[in-house]
Amino acid sequence: MKVLVVGGGGREHAIVWALSKSRKVKKLYCAPGNGGIAAQAECIAIPATDVAAMVAWARENAVDFVVVAPDDPLALGMVDAMEAAGIPAFGPQAAAAVVEASKIFSKNLMEKYHIPTAKYKAFTDMEAALAYVEDQGAPIVVKADGLALGKGVVVAQSVDEAKDAVRSMMADGRFGAAGSRLVIEECMTGPEVTVLSFCDGKHLVPMPSSQDHKRAYDGNQGPNTGGMGAISPSPHYTPEIARRCMEEIFLPTVAALNAEGRPFQGVLYFGLMLTPDGPKVVEYNARFGDPECQAVLSLLDSDLMEIFEACRDGSLDRLDIRWKNAAACCLVLASGGYPGSYEKGYPISGLEEAGRTAVVFHAGTKLGPDGAVLTSGGRVLGVTATGGDLAEAIGCAYHSAKYIHFTGMQFRRDIGRV
Ligand code: AMP
Ligand code: GLY
Repeated sequence: MKVLVVGGGGREHAIVWALSKSRKVKKLYCAPGNGGIAAQAECIAIPATDVAAMVAWARENAVDFVVVAPDDPLALGMVDAMEAAGIPAFGPQAAAAVVEASKIFSKNLMEKYHIPTAKYKAFTDMEAALAYVEDQGAPIVVKADGLALGKGVVVAQSVDEAKDAVRSMMADGRFGAAGSRLVIEECMTGPEVTVLSFCDGKHLVPMPSSQDHKRAYDGNQGPNTGGMGAISPSPHYTPEIARRCMEEIFLPTVAALNAEGRPFQGVLYFGLMLTPDGPKVVEYNARFGDPECQAVLSLLDSDLMEIFEACRDGSLDRLDIRWKNAAACCLVLASGGYPGSYEKGYPISGLEEAGRTAVVFHAGTKLGPDGAVLTSGGRVLGVTATGGDLAEAIGCAYHSAKYIHFTGMQFRRDIGRV
């Protein structure tokens, strides 16, 4: 098969890496890809959000299957467009991807189908939102409705902070159209766990649990980022909690989306908080998380292409998906200054040495004119190691990362320890 993966970050590198081991995949393309993906797939210079160009290219090059990994093209209907052009595609159609693209939609869905989540109210009027904050008091959480690169959420510790967040989202237009509507919700407490799951519209198969580290600095301090590292499985996710999540959250969500005429095919991401009242949904995403994907896929012991095809064909129940009885850690190496401004274009050394004990997924890299690997983004690399248990996997990821160097390199020292 000729397979095209859409996207160009660490998550897409992990998907390409896993597909490159499939006995079914003969040729891999990635658009736009990056400096590391180029070793396993032919990179095509089409932006991930250019739906028309992507469909045209896939058709002209007789691609057999397309994997749409990032949120934006999913929300823009890239899967719908591929399927309409006769090209099988993995990922939810736009009608189902809305679980991520609109927080108001997903909160209303959970309320209607009694899926546990934080108590909330949706607003389009700023004065009403400010009055609600005043009435509820702090701590309280303010969320822009639409896709805001993970930065549209403010967990406010005071009423004034919450009001500032409401004003900046609704009046100052910080998030454009994404912020003109917002959700204000109760602040939950407890450990956060991610569960990615394969869905074929009818059936759902959870992958091993994982845990992201969203804040930039050690001790979960500093600004939110795309994710500074991930471990899998999460030590908080016990078999008993897993059983409750399946019964109270996962299966009801699949059924709810079906009842709404929006069957979900692809990866459904459950962002969960294990509160004193039981597990509750923080958010849904319509795709693999980044960097959770890198950690979780490094534990996969089955053919990812077969899984993608089964998700699209509705035959997931006939597949026996195997996972290594092991643990994984993905440590993100970022550019100095990230998630604020940072410089690019620095050469990266030590990749080969690090690659002897870990898999180094590339996120923000590109190849220089002489083939040297250069930094080209905020999150640069995801050093991903497996081990018999979490301590071993974490130790191996940190040990491997010691070989890597680039100017300004920044990373957390406590992945998997907080
Ligand atoms: P989201 O983009 O909805 O996942 O929110 C980003 C982060 O904000 C989450 O990973 C949580 O750490 C935090 N958060 C979101 N909603 C809540 C909530 N209701 N209570 C406490 N923390 C929250
Ligand atoms: N790691 C969180 C996300 O991909 O949204």
